[in-house]
Order: sequence, then structure tokens, then C-alpha cells
Amino acid sequence: MENNYKNLEVISNPIVNQSLCIMRNKNTDTEGVRLAARKLTRILLYEATKNLPQTDVEIETPLTVFTTKTIDSDIKIIISPILRAGLIFTDEAVDILPQAAIRHIGMYRDEKTLKPVWYYNKVPMPVEDPVKYYVYITDPMLATGNSLIEAIRLYTEKGIPQKNICCVCMISAPQGIQAVFEQFPDIKLIVAAVDSHLNEKGYIVPGMGDAGDRIFNT
Ligand code: URA
Repeated sequence: MENNYKNLEVISNPIVNQSLCIMRNKNTDTEGVRLAARKLTRILLYEATKNLPQTDVEIETPLTVFTTKTIDSDIKIIISPILRAGLIFTDEAVDILPQAAIRHIGMYRDEKTLKPVWYYNKVPMPVEDPVKYYVYITDPMLATGNSLIEAIRLYTEKGIPQKNICCVCMISAPQGIQAVFEQFPDIKLIVAAVDSHLNEKGYIVPGMGDAGDRIFNT
């Protein structure tokens, strides 16, 4: 797909592509899917966190004192996995960003309407200085975009700027990308693949099937 969206980044490299091949293959078992997914989440999270503000710090190495850059400790970082498949990002996310708060969002897709149904929401929290918040919403599959839109709204309603919100997905459908950017043109979206279309049941084609089932062996 030609990328006409200024805030969409499609990450492609040999490791990403190999991981996707393993995950998509219907003969890959749960262990294989998880391993490939974990590898992919790490790469996507590295790309996603390029927007974090940095500050100069002075540190002392065994050899000398010098000034260098690190993540600004004055900001607040939130990782928001959309349950349940979004959980696959969490282990890598807490390794990479130990200072982040994890705020789970529980939604499932009504199989008839394809609309998200809430069952858990750990987002209500005081936001004193919203511009200091950097939010990463994780969900492996961006299909219709309905769940992601609901999740993004939770944060924008708190005054957190769209440009500080990054959605990190593995496989996406053009329809979902369009729906998300129609509502929130200034969020950042990182994906590893943009697939062909959604089928009549709302599954991404070619996709990888039900990501939650394949990751959690259900
Ligand atoms: N959710 C999934 O797990 N797979 C899809 O293809 C679409 C939504």
C-alpha cells in the first residue's frame, strides 16, 4: 500500500518480515507465535519510543565526567495494552521502559456488530499536566479500528495531546488505518504490515487469524 498518511510508519526489515512470516503461518505452534511476536514487539517499541523527549545529564564513567542524553525524567510514560492480545507487548515494554505505568484496557469485539464492548478500564487516573504524558497503546491487530479509537479517546479526553499518543500494532487493515486517522489525525501509528482487507467477519486478510487465540493457545 502506498503510504499517504504523514503519521503512519510501516516498519520493514528482515527480522520484522521473518517474524511476520512465522506468526502468519497457520502451522506455527503457540510457542513459535509467541517467540516471533515478542521479537517483533521489541522492534516496534524501539521505533515507537523515538518520540520521547530527552534531556542532557552529566554522568561519571570509570574514566571521566561527561554530558550526554537520556530520557527526560520529568515526563510520564504509559503503556496501555488492549486486552487480551495487546498483552504480548507488555513484557518487552517493561524491559525497555521500566519507569512506565501499565494501564490495561479491556475490550472485546462483539462478533455481530464488530463494535468494542468494555469490560475493564484502568485508565481513569488524575492527569495534572497532560502535555507531560506519553502514551503507547498496544494491540497486535488493527482491523476495523473501533477498539483503538475508543482507547485513544480515553486519553485525548484527559487533555493528552494526540501527538503524544502512539498506537503500536503488528498487522493492520487499510480500513482501520483510515478510521483511526479520520478521528485522530495527529496520533502516531506504527505497524509492521498493512494487509489487503477485512473479511465479512472482520478478520484481517491475509492476517494471522485470531491473534489472542494464537498467542494464548485458546
Ligand atoms: N483481531 C484478530 O485477532 N485478528 C484479526 O484478523 C482481526 C482482529
